[in-house]
Amino acid sequence: MDRPIGVFDSGVGGLTVLRELVRALPKEIFLYLGDTARVPYGTKSRETITRYSIEIANYLITRHDIKMLVVACNTASSLALPVLRKIYKIPVVGMVDPCVRRVAALPRREAIGVIGTTGTIRSGAYEQALRQAVPQARVHCQPAPLLVSLAEEGWTESPVARAVIAEYLSPFRVHPQDALILGCTHYPVLKKPIGEFLGEKTVLIDSGEESTRVVDILLSESGMKRIGGKPEIRFMVTDDPDPFMRVGETFFGAKLDSVEKVVL
Ligand code: DGL
Repeated sequence: MDRPIGVFDSGVGGLTVLRELVRALPKEIFLYLGDTARVPYGTKSRETITRYSIEIANYLITRHDIKMLVVACNTASSLALPVLRKIYKIPVVGMVDPCVRRVAALPRREAIGVIGTTGTIRSGAYEQALRQAVPQARVHCQPAPLLVSLAEEGWTESPVARAVIAEYLSPFRVHPQDALILGCTHYPVLKKPIGEFLGEKTVLIDSGEESTRVVDILLSESGMKRIGGKPEIRFMVTDDPDPFMRVGETFFGAKLDSVEKVVL
């Protein structure tokens, strides 16, 4: 029996990661779980996010026998990844290391910006990983929590979105960055206005694209890549599926045909 890849997030944001995974690995079976009953994660403590993440991982492993877990949420990756890796035997891929790995490979990497939820930035996970991988870089981390609501509202090109982006990112215009890590899975839908505000010289790093590269390599190296078969994606949420289906399309880039509610 072919085993699926489990992907989870607090809600819709991780669909930007799933979109990249499906594009790069069309033969795999994906199970996506959005913890919509307990969203947002970005404002909660390490203890709470770790507990939620363990509950979801237990559910996906025991009920669905996933072969790999992708933590498609920067907040959960920043706060719970070391514990998840300690508990489970299957490979666990987060968002932080893949982004940092890409920064380390850039030709220009003296000034690196990071934006994310309050929880992600407060955890110091990006800062620590960057200090290790690129010790010479000046790292500037900025919480940008309002961008999550703007993305969910679908106000990605509106004057309000541009004003909020300008408010958060003005320091990066005064001191231009070589790269900006979009350290929240909601932010890729705002890539265009962010890129226009910062200009072409700042490389925008997308956690979905970077983690997909890592998943691809891990599957190949471990011989776990699915060779044949039809693509399969199953969407699950922990609360009412309707709002998830409505908002999810912007993040996934395609209609979500069926979403089921599950109890963890
Ligand atoms: N998906 C979360 C992240 O990437 C943002 C949304 C939330 O706060 O739950 O950090």
